[in-house]
Amino acid sequence: MRGTEYIMLEVKNLLVFYENALAINDLSLRVEKGQMVGVIGSNSAGKTTLMNTISGLIIDMKIKEERRGGERITVMGDVIFNGETITHMEPYDRAKKGIALCRERHPIFPESDVLENLKIAGYLVKRSELKERIDFAFNLFPALVDLKRRRAGFLSGGEQQMLAIGMALIIKPVLLLLDEPLLGLSPAIQSKLVQAVKNIQKEIGITTVISEQFARPILPMIDYGYIIENGMLTLTGSGKELMDNPEVRSAYFGV
Ligand SMILES: Nc1ncnc2c1ncn2[C@@H]1O[C@H](COP(=O)(O)OP(=O)(O)OP(=O)(O)O)[C@@H](O)[C@H]1O
Ligand SMILES: [Mg+2]
Repeated sequence: MRGTEYIMLEVKNLLVFYENALAINDLSLRVEKGQMVGVIGSNSAGKTTLMNTISGLIIDMKIKEERRGGERITVMGDVIFNGETITHMEPYDRAKKGIALCRERHPIFPESDVLENLKIAGYLVKRSELKERIDFAFNLFPALVDLKRRRAGFLSGGEQQMLAIGMALIIKPVLLLLDEPLLGLSPAIQSKLVQAVKNIQKEIGITTVISEQFARPILPMIDYGYIIENGMLTLTGSGKELMDNPEVRSAYFGV
C-alpha cells in the first residue's frame, strides 16, 4: 500500500448544485502523481462540472452568477491538491499551482493565429520565459509549427484541439485536465491525439485527468477510470478492468 504522498488530487464527497439541480452527487476520486485518469460518462453526466470544479472555473461562474443575482451554484465537499484544500480557491490561483484546464469544444480564439493563441494562453507566464514555453508547446505538437501564422479558426478540428492542449500546456502544468478532447474528431485523428497525449504524460511526467463520452479510445491509455452517471460514480477500475467489463462495453463503446 502506498502512502498519501503519492496522491496529487483528491476529490472527496463532492456535491455541485446548479440552483436546485444536482450535477455532481457525492463523488469521490483520487489521482496519483504521474497517472492518467479517465472520467467517462454520457451527455450531462457531470464531466464538465467536475473538470470546472477541479480547475476552479466553477468559482468564477458562481461569482458571476451571484453578481447578476441569478442562478446559484453551490459546491460542497472537498477538492484537495497536493494535500491542500483548494475547493473555494479561484482558478487563477490554481493555475499558479500548476493546474491547467483544456475546456471542452476546442476553446481557441478563431480570429487570432496559432502563435497569438499560444501567447494569449501564456498571460500568466513571465515575459522572459514565454518563448521557451511556446517552443515547448511546438515540440509537443510539431504539426503546429508550420501553422504558426494560420488563423486558428481555419485549422481542422484535430489541429484546433492540439492548439487547445498546447495552450493549456503553456503554464507547464503539473496537473492537466482535458475535457472531452476527442469530441467531434474522426477515429484516425482521435488515435493520433491520444498518442500525443500519452507522449506528453510519459515524457514530461505530467499527471492527467481526461474526460470522454466514449470509453473505447481512452481505456487503453488510462491507468485508472471512473464511470459517472447523473453525477454519481457507477463503476471504477483500471483501464484494463473497465475494458473487460461487459457493462462498459455495451454502454460506452459507441457504435
Ligand atoms: N450552468 C448550468 N446551469 C444549470 N445547469 C447546468 C449548468 N451546467 C450544467 N448543468 C447541468 O448539470 C448537469 C451536468 O452537466 P455537465 O455539463 O457537467 O455534463 P457533461 O457530462 O459535461 O455533459 P456533455 O457530455 O454534454 O458535455 C446536466 O444536467 C446539465 O444540464
Ligand atoms: Mg461536458
